[in-house]
Amino acid sequence: MDKLIVHGGNTLSGAINISGAKNASLPILAASLLTEDDVIIRRVPDVSDTNYMIQILSALGAHVERSSGTVRISAQTITHEAPYELVRKMRASICVMGPLLARLGQAMVSLPGGCVIGDRPVDLHLKGLRAIGADIDLEGGNMNMTTPNGLVGTEVDMRGKQGPTVLGTDNLMMAAVLAKGTTVIESAAAEPEVVDLANFLISMGAKIQGAGTRTITIEGVERLHGTEHTIIPDRIEAGTFMVAGAMAAGPEGITINRICKEHLEPVTEKLIESGHSVEFNEEGSSVKVAPASTPKGARIVTAPHPGFPTDMQAQFSALYATTPGLSVIEDTIFPQRFMHCAEMSRMGANMKVDNGTAVIDGTDKLSAAPVMASDLRASAALVLAALNAEGSTEINRLYHIDRGYEHIDEKLLALGAKVERVKER
Ligand code: EPZ
Repeated sequence: MDKLIVHGGNTLSGAINISGAKNASLPILAASLLTEDDVIIRRVPDVSDTNYMIQILSALGAHVERSSGTVRISAQTITHEAPYELVRKMRASICVMGPLLARLGQAMVSLPGGCVIGDRPVDLHLKGLRAIGADIDLEGGNMNMTTPNGLVGTEVDMRGKQGPTVLGTDNLMMAAVLAKGTTVIESAAAEPEVVDLANFLISMGAKIQGAGTRTITIEGVERLHGTEHTIIPDRIEAGTFMVAGAMAAGPEGITINRICKEHLEPVTEKLIESGHSVEFNEEGSSVKVAPASTPKGARIVTAPHPGFPTDMQAQFSALYATTPGLSVIEDTIFPQRFMHCAEMSRMGANMKVDNGTAVIDGTDKLSAAPVMASDLRASAALVLAALNAEGSTEINRLYHIDRGYEHIDEKLLALGAKVERVKER
C-alpha cells in the first residue's frame, strides 16, 4: 500500500487545474447503459472509483475505451448482473440499478457494505424503484429486481431521516427516463452532480425538468440515443485546494483553475467568514485563495445542497485545528464522519467529538506524526494538516485518497508542497 510523506512548513504558491467531478462521473458512466448507441464522456477523472465503475460496465457487457480523460462506451448488449467482487469495493456501484431496470427490466446488484463514515442504507433507493413498479427481493446479500409490469411513472417523496439522497435521486431519475408516463420526485437532491446527470440524460433525449430543485419531473420516452458530454469540475477537489490555500499559501495565494464559482458558494462563504481572501475571475472559472492575517474560527453545520457539503467538513476541521480560537463542526448527514479527528489529535490538534459534533480549540501549529487514512475526505484532511505541521508526516493507506483525488501528489508538488509518494510492496 502506498503512503505519502508530507514535509510540512512549505509555503504554497502557483496554480493547478481541477479535474472532472468524481461524483458526477460515476452516475453518468452508469447512465451510459441506458442506450445501445455510443456515448463519449470527457473529463472523467483518473481515480480508482471511476476505474471500478468502468470495470463494472465492462463486466455487464459494455465495450469501454478510455484515452486519458475521455471514455467512449458502447452498451449494445448487456446483462443484468453486477459482479459482487466489484460492487463490494464501491458503494456508488448501486447506481447501475436504475439504468439496468430501465433498459433490461431486471437487475441483480449486491447490497453495498457500510463504510467508516457511517452505515449506508439503501432503503430510499428501494422505495423509489418500487414506487415505479420494481419488484425487489433481498437474498444472499443481493438485491434481485424485476419489473413484471414494466416501469410506470408516479409521484414519490424521496426524503429520508437526514434529508434527500443524492444517489437515490440519481437511480430513480435514471429508471424513470424510460418508464411509461410521468414520474415526479419530491424532496429530490439538488447537488450540482445531480444536475450534471440530468443534463447528460437530456442530451440523450430524456425529458427532465426541475433538476437542481427539490422537485424533478421526468416524462418517460421510448428510447435514448447516444451523446457527448463533458463532466463538471469537481467542487470538492476545488474546495479541498481552497482550504490548502487558506492554510499554507503565501500572501500572494494559490490559483485554482477550471472550477465553477456557483458550485463553491458555501465553502467560499466560510473561508471569507474566517478572514481568508477568496477572489474569483470574471467568468467564475478560476479562484485565488490566500490566508487571513488573523484567521478566525467559525461554526459549520452540514446540510444537503445548497447547504455546506458534508464532503468538505473534514477539510475544514484541519483548517480550524490550526486556527486559534474555538470552532464547531456538526455533520447532520453523516454524524459518525469524524475518523480524521482522532488521527489529527495525534498531530496535536485539540478536538472533542460528541454526537455528530466536533468542538475544535485551534492551535497555531500541529506537529508531524505517522497517521492512518480512513476514508476519502478524512485522508484529504490529514494531507492538509500535514502541510501545516512541523516535520514530516507519513500518511498510510494512500489508496483512500486515490479513490477521489486525481494525481494529488502531482498537484501538491505543482503548488510547491514537499511531498513524496512511497510505493510499498
Ligand atoms: C453521495 O453519496 C456522495 N457520493 C457522497 O460523497 C456524499 O457524502 C453524499 O452523497 C452526501 O452528499 C457519490 O455521489 C458517489 P446520500 P450517497 O444518499 O448518495 C441517508 C465522497 O466523499 N440515506 O445522499 O450515497 C444516508 O445514510 C462521498 O465523495 C438513507 O437513509 O449519499 C445519509 O445520512 C462520500 N437511505 C443521507 O441519507 C438511503 O437509501 C445522505 O446520503 C440513502 C441514503
